Amino acid sequence: MSDDLPLYDDDNLFSAYQDMRSAPGRLNEVLERPAIWSLIPNPENLVIADLGCGAGDMVRDLCAKGARDVLGIDASERMIAEATRSSVHPRARFLVQPLETLELPENSYDLVVSSLALHYVEPYDKLVKNVWRALKPDARFVFSVEHPIVTCARREWQTDADGERAHWPVDHYSEEGSRLIRWLGLEVPRQHRTISTYLNVLIECGFVIEKVLEPVPDDDAISKWPRLADQRRRPPFLLVSARKM
Ligand SMILES: C[S@@+](CC[C@H](N)C(=O)[O-])C[C@H]1O[C@@H](n2cnc3c(N)ncnc32)[C@H](O)[C@@H]1O
Repeated sequence: MSDDLPLYDDDNLFSAYQDMRSAPGRLNEVLERPAIWSLIPNPENLVIADLGCGAGDMVRDLCAKGARDVLGIDASERMIAEATRSSVHPRARFLVQPLETLELPENSYDLVVSSLALHYVEPYDKLVKNVWRALKPDARFVFSVEHPIVTCARREWQTDADGERAHWPVDHYSEEGSRLIRWLGLEVPRQHRTISTYLNVLIECGFVIEKVLEPVPDDDAISKWPRLADQRRRPPFLLVSARKM
């Protein structure tokens, strides 16, 4: 994986990710997407930013549900090119911009969302302060990340002598920082931080945490996609809804 390119501009990761996103019964679709929508207020007439928007699915859906203006931001030119192709809407705009250096205009947004992108961003506290400044009073910041018990170690099940999944290793949990993680057959960097850091940075900035979710598949999902059963043994995602006071 090249150090010079934004992560998702890498050929191998971009195509592995596109394949994963088009597969039926994927975790994002079954678990993360319903959970994040359960935290998002009615978007009608709202001015919204989507941080790490990828191919723009959320931007498109927010526009379709009546948002006034949705800005999708992503570091990857390939992702934004994909988003501009597939999510054309008069109220959707896209920007190629790393979140590390993003400066959103003050007091401008009714909602900031971010789906599965913040675990790539190193200066989380700087980003949270930036989002806080950009939100109007009472507005929400809603995000999902890979769960810290997933980002802390190798992101691989430990197997027993018969090759069966024995347990999910949680290791070096309190050591925050960069990790190379096995994902989609590649070694992909992640920024690991603890649950307390995710929440306390929000609290210290002045947010009120309204809801925290750690969704796992229900019986219906498992009967449809039995391979998701192991995802009940540990939560794959952490989701937070926080309101600016
Ligand atoms: C797992 S994808 C999620 C995409 C989209 N939010 C979704 O749920 O469909 C993560 C996205 O975060 C973007 N990303 C990763 N690091 C970033 C950074 N430092 N600044 C901006 N975007 C970043 C990637 O380019 C990628 O599009």
